[in-house]
Amino acid sequence: TPLEILWIPLIPRFWTISWFLTGTSTLSMGSTLPTRSTRSRTGRIRDSDIFAVTYPKSGTIWMQQILTLIEAKGDVTPTTEHLNAQRVPWIELIGGEKEFNATPSPRLRVTHLQYKFMPLAVRQKKGKVIYVARNPKDVLVSYYHFHKYAAMLETPKDFNDFFEKFMEGKVYGNCWFEHIKTWYANRHNMNFLYITYEDMIKDLRSIVERMCRFLGKDLTEEQMASVVEHSTFRTMKQNLQANYKTVPDSLLDHNKGTFMRKGTIGDWKNHFTVAQSERFDSVFQEKMRDLPLSFAWDIN
Ligand code: A3P
Repeated sequence: TPLEILWIPLIPRFWTISWFLTGTSTLSMGSTLPTRSTRSRTGRIRDSDIFAVTYPKSGTIWMQQILTLIEAKGDVTPTTEHLNAQRVPWIELIGGEKEFNATPSPRLRVTHLQYKFMPLAVRQKKGKVIYVARNPKDVLVSYYHFHKYAAMLETPKDFNDFFEKFMEGKVYGNCWFEHIKTWYANRHNMNFLYITYEDMIKDLRSIVERMCRFLGKDLTEEQMASVVEHSTFRTMKQNLQANYKTVPDSLLDHNKGTFMRKGTIGDWKNHFTVAQSERFDSVFQEKMRDLPLSFAWDIN
């Protein structure tokens, strides 16, 4: 239902619905390690589970669309009949342990959770994780516009106000730097595919092919062409079940903005001042320096 978008205000309460996340109620935002009780309750995760992991505004609904289409071998019916959040639901919103366990395989799920909140089994190579990263400057801009029309989020005073909050990690989803760092640094603990929004923009088909190889899916040429065609910005913008257009104005005020906003690379250049960009660059260098060089991408 459209109410599924209410995941956003739930984020601060993740640790209170932690049956799925760790199987313990002792988790707090500061904890980094699972407790002993966690270990006994992670049998719920199956090898066939697929988790799309993103920081907000990095390509989440794009992944929901592609995963559905790959699973349906290019058949568009599920993408036009069901809302993206029903096809690939948020683990943050799973109704309960029973419902999750009863769901047939393969279970496609999406999440913005920080790494430390994932079930231990996922961090021990059960299931598959696809992490989508996006240039954080563009993430910031996209998130700023989202705040202006998402009724459940505080409207920023102006761009600078939002810039400061993002830099401090005082936004839902917490700190972008922590998110990507912890997921990427722990990639060897998982069956992990790392892709970027920018690569998807540049060559969507290659990324879909990589995803298929990772997921062990063998699509015909025709099926592959359908997956790509129905995952383009243009097609998804017209597909009301793919782009949150059916969510009521009381949650997303469609007069003030749209989920499928621009879908481009580099829109940050139309928003950042030179000073903001330089400050962002130096924070980026500092926070990301521990990650391997092969990871780095030019945010400018
Ligand atoms: P913009 O606001 O920059 O346009 P999320 O789903 O994680 O919230 O991310 C939303 C962002 O992804 C929006 O970015 C949206 O336009 C973009 N997006 C969604 N589907 C896309 C597609 N098929 N091609 C390009 N960008 C897409």
